[in-house]
Amino acid sequence: MIEVDTLTKAFRRNGRDHVVLDAVSLRVDAGRIAGVIGPSGAGKSTLARCVNLLERPTSGRVVVGGQDLTALRDRELQAARRRIGTIFQAANLLSSRTVAGNVSLPLEIAGVPRAERRTRVAELVARVGLEDHARTHPAQLSGGQRQRVGIARALALRPDVLLSDEATSGLDPDTTRSILALLRGLRDDLGLTILLITHEMEVVRDVCDQVALLRDGRIVEQGDVGALVTDPDSALGRGLVPARPVAVAPGGGQSWRVTYTADDVDPAWIGRLEHELGTRVALLGASVEAVDGRPAGHVTVALDDPTIDLAERLRGRGLHAARLDETAADAPPAAVADLVAAPPAAGEDPGAVAATDRDPTGEPAGDPAEATDLPAAPTPTEERA
Ligand SMILES: Nc1ncnc2c1ncn2[C@@H]1O[C@H](COP(=O)(O)OP(=O)(O)OP(=O)(O)O)[C@@H](O)[C@H]1O
Ligand SMILES: [Mg+2]
Repeated sequence: MIEVDTLTKAFRRNGRDHVVLDAVSLRVDAGRIAGVIGPSGAGKSTLARCVNLLERPTSGRVVVGGQDLTALRDRELQAARRRIGTIFQAANLLSSRTVAGNVSLPLEIAGVPRAERRTRVAELVARVGLEDHARTHPAQLSGGQRQRVGIARALALRPDVLLSDEATSGLDPDTTRSILALLRGLRDDLGLTILLITHEMEVVRDVCDQVALLRDGRIVEQGDVGALVTDPDSALGRGLVPARPVAVAPGGGQSWRVTYTADDVDPAWIGRLEHELGTRVALLGASVEAVDGRPAGHVTVALDDPTIDLAERLRGRGLHAARLDETAADAPPAAVADLVAAPPAAGEDPGAVAATDRDPTGEPAGDPAEATDLPAAPTPTEERA
């Protein structure tokens, strides 16, 4: 379980405090996948870094698995942070080490005996589907495979919580889907609680149970994905199943936008409606998808007879109708439009660069201990590998 309670983070820049996170509160129950979505610079990475306390919050509390991390002293914090695995956009693997060697690293730093390490590494490498690549070096892997190594490494110390900061940005859609399926499988098998930072709505829709929209350091909307997509007034919900351009109503009919608001909508509602009304129902556009295993989204229809009150006729059927000229919903609001902006290229993520600059352990930039969020510990020698 992750609980973020009125977390505020300010950075001092040019002699002034810049508030980057402003009273952010968030709760993710055990075994749930929570998305945090928002435009570049919203504070997403800073939030992730505050959750594992790589960044100390200016005020507020971070409770992970019942333990208030903000109240811990450095030594206790190092132990607590082992229960939090982290994966980034760039997997940050050591090029000199094989897949198995990279996965083994956190275990070496934690002083796990060699035999136990071997078994655990084999287990982890198999879990992420890289059995055939245990002896391969990162340079010979695809981006998706490298990300799998990063995931295996993040799981090495059996964390309860996984933080993922843009882990699928820059991967193609198929690879993204396979990584998301892996994360969901890990949640199901290991009961992991996952905080997934992303700027891709598809990622949220495909894998998250809940989502928070972060803008300028504030959570402007949050909720369960299933509830948001069935709320016709939710900007986040509309962003999750975005509206597509619709055709013009034929012959001056009245256009209506119909939103699915329940999980038991009759799939044949259009045909039934036409029959009941005795008038033509023209289909002008539709974005209906399975979210959480049930149909969600919106449909735009036109009725020849402008006097029919479709909102009234559809009431009680899990469908909300609004005259199209009464709703601005056909254009996604700016807040959501921003979210689908292109991702920063791998390695150019300002958060990732800042992360290595700001390594609180004082390790050199790019040190793998940073990438795995490991506690500061004696650097292992290659002989121990
Ligand atoms: N160490 C720091 N010192 C000063 N300002 C910082 C520091 N780290 C982050 N910031 C500022 O905090 C804001 C939020 O940055 P953050 O990296 O959290 O955004 P983000 O939502 O992850 O963006 P992106 O989608 O581009 O990764 C930015 O304005 C950034 O400049
Ligand atoms: Mg970021």
